[in-house]
Amino acid sequence: MKKILLIICLLFGVILVFNSCNKNNSVKTDSGSILIGLVMPETHVDRWVKDGASLKRFAESRGYRAEETFAGTDQNVQNGQIRTFIKEGAKLLIIGSLSEGIIPAVADAAKAKIPVIAYDRIIPNSADYDYYITFNNYEVGTFQGKSIEDGLDLKNATTANPKTIAFFAGAATDGNAFFFYDGAVDVLNPYIDKGVLKVIGPYPRTSKDSAAFKSIATENWQAAVAEARMKDLLANEARDVRLDAVLAPNDTLARAIIKACLDDPKYSGGNLPLITGQDAEADSILAIKNGQQSMTVFKDTTKLAEAAIILADQILKGEANPVVPGATLAAGDLAVIGDTGKKIVKAFLLQPIFINKDNWNIPVQAGYFTPEEEIRLK
Ligand code: GAL
Repeated sequence: MKKILLIICLLFGVILVFNSCNKNNSVKTDSGSILIGLVMPETHVDRWVKDGASLKRFAESRGYRAEETFAGTDQNVQNGQIRTFIKEGAKLLIIGSLSEGIIPAVADAAKAKIPVIAYDRIIPNSADYDYYITFNNYEVGTFQGKSIEDGLDLKNATTANPKTIAFFAGAATDGNAFFFYDGAVDVLNPYIDKGVLKVIGPYPRTSKDSAAFKSIATENWQAAVAEARMKDLLANEARDVRLDAVLAPNDTLARAIIKACLDDPKYSGGNLPLITGQDAEADSILAIKNGQQSMTVFKDTTKLAEAAIILADQILKGEANPVVPGATLAAGDLAVIGDTGKKIVKAFLLQPIFINKDNWNIPVQAGYFTPEEEIRLK
């Protein structure tokens, strides 16, 4: 009997020791209790859903807790989400901002000593953060402008038979929209000046031409807004003209413009204008494969998210001069990309990739699409 009792006591002791070890092992590492807030702008543009999921995955792979929020293009909602993260004790925020209306919420984060990384969109007119990570968005616009230059053979166009173009821009509340537009018109303006490319509708010479830029901008990047404006152009300024090209700043707007054109007998036969885009969305890769959209730009947001988390990890570990593999710290002429209007923040730039019918497989090979999207792209 005594032997049995001894064995039971020994067994009990072993279980106790094992349990206490196991509790220690299951205790999250220090960073496990660190919360990173992922504040995304919207979900009606596919890429932001991918961004949020990738940011969360990479943060958790480094032992952080990470929560994603989406603001549905409502700045008050986004500010509320930021303030909730501050209350929840988040130690860093990664923000894809909607507009300048975010500035007071970012100021609250600064007061709470919470570092902010502006994610893909600069937070304008704020001195309350130090880091911005994005793609070279001016180059995105250059890709769009060059695809029109080549696609319309502008180098050989004549004033006797000028090519025609209509301009669309992204949301005037999004700093990126200005870089996209300027990258494109810096390629196209010389042809407009020569009279071999004729603009149909409003023509801001650069994004600094505010009134004209606002008239081609698309509120909150909403496809319905672009479709309505394209329909209006086709019924008015472009009624008696065949458009050779439309500068569309991203894929959701490109597909809305295609939709409006296909309702117009001039284009319904498929001889659409050359229409640009960006974001390498699956539906636009299909549109490129079927000849309706001319190009897009692959901005591997999986890489952007991984780079943002590498940056966040270094900031949280107190690194004063973070280095982000795969991203270039904007310096020299490029440093202006980090100019918020109140300070120059450290801007880390990733490389966008031009995509057309000849290399549409690049985002597929990069694993950018979901299995369902890949099936549709086959
Ligand atoms: C921009 C971004 C683009 C596109 C657009 C629509 O800020 O740089 O890639 O996603 O927003 O959301």
